[in-house]
Amino acid sequence: MKNVSIEFEKIRNQAKTLINQAQNLTTLETIRVDLLGRKGKLADLMVVLKDLSIEEKRTLGPLANQVKTELEELFQQKKNNLFNDSLRQEEEHYAGFDVTAYKTGHKKGSLHPYTQLTQKNIAIFTSLGFKISDGPEIETEFYNFEALNIPESHPARDMQDTFWIDVPGMLLRTHTSTVQIHTMQEGNLPIAVITPGRVYRQEATDASHDFMFQQLEGLVIDKNISMSHLLGTLKTWLHLIFNRNDLSLRIRPGYFPFVEPGIEVDVTCPFCTSGCSTCKKTGWIEMGGAGLIHPNVLKAGGINPEIYRGFAFGFGMTRLAMLIYGINDIRLLHSNDKEFLKQF
Ligand code: DAH
Repeated sequence: MKNVSIEFEKIRNQAKTLINQAQNLTTLETIRVDLLGRKGKLADLMVVLKDLSIEEKRTLGPLANQVKTELEELFQQKKNNLFNDSLRQEEEHYAGFDVTAYKTGHKKGSLHPYTQLTQKNIAIFTSLGFKISDGPEIETEFYNFEALNIPESHPARDMQDTFWIDVPGMLLRTHTSTVQIHTMQEGNLPIAVITPGRVYRQEATDASHDFMFQQLEGLVIDKNISMSHLLGTLKTWLHLIFNRNDLSLRIRPGYFPFVEPGIEVDVTCPFCTSGCSTCKKTGWIEMGGAGLIHPNVLKAGGINPEIYRGFAFGFGMTRLAMLIYGINDIRLLHSNDKEFLKQF
């Protein structure tokens, strides 16, 4: 009997030490199963108890129960402590986590300079009553040349080095003037449209030339259109695009087969007062060509030149974008380089 009671004491002491040392809930559970489990050490001892005399059972029975309850309480207490510890650790871990300081890390995109300029042009011209017109970039010889009064063998065809396509008579449009004819053929008069778009020329590329660039074409057709309508429109556009009323236009005679008379349009350099590198010290910047539509072009578009007249202009938007956004290499505009585009 002495031995059995010693065994109980042993288990009690051993359990106390082990419970004390347990560092986490998993270890604690292993210890509990080992000592108090159905096949644990205490249960083994209970089996021995069965074979003892009644006297012995009387003393050892309560002792066994006492040890069991005591240990169960100890386990429960330790379990609570460990659980609270882990909660506290978790709280400490997240204590420095400030939800209000959380940044999503979203990167803000921006519109390409071309898109920004195009949107500005569209806003200005639609406010003047213009509509937006569009046409294909792969064109026929007819729309790019013939209909625009540039017959085959006309020297003006050499003015624009053309990308020809493997299909006979097909090319990449060299200017947005092609859309003039498409718009006229739609048959709705009067016409007031602009066409922003890409054009292609077979040119060697350098900082100021690329084989693709952007133009803005304008076309107005009505019964009594004159040069003053053209100049008034361009001047209004000029003041709005730079948001400055002090800028002026300068016109020089220019030859374009699809207009008569034809003019070259310059604008006062918006970047200086007495000559800078942008205007090459001239005080003027070339914008493009314009003029009153040639009767042959009206005819090609199915419009009677005896009744209708019109004006047209074609401005270089790549050049303008470079000027406005201070871009010194045209190739950057077409590079899709994120570091470059991030600036706009
Ligand atoms: N299409 C001409 C070019 O690309 C520019 C141009 C000149 C357009 C005169 C016009 C115009 O509409 O009237 O060089």
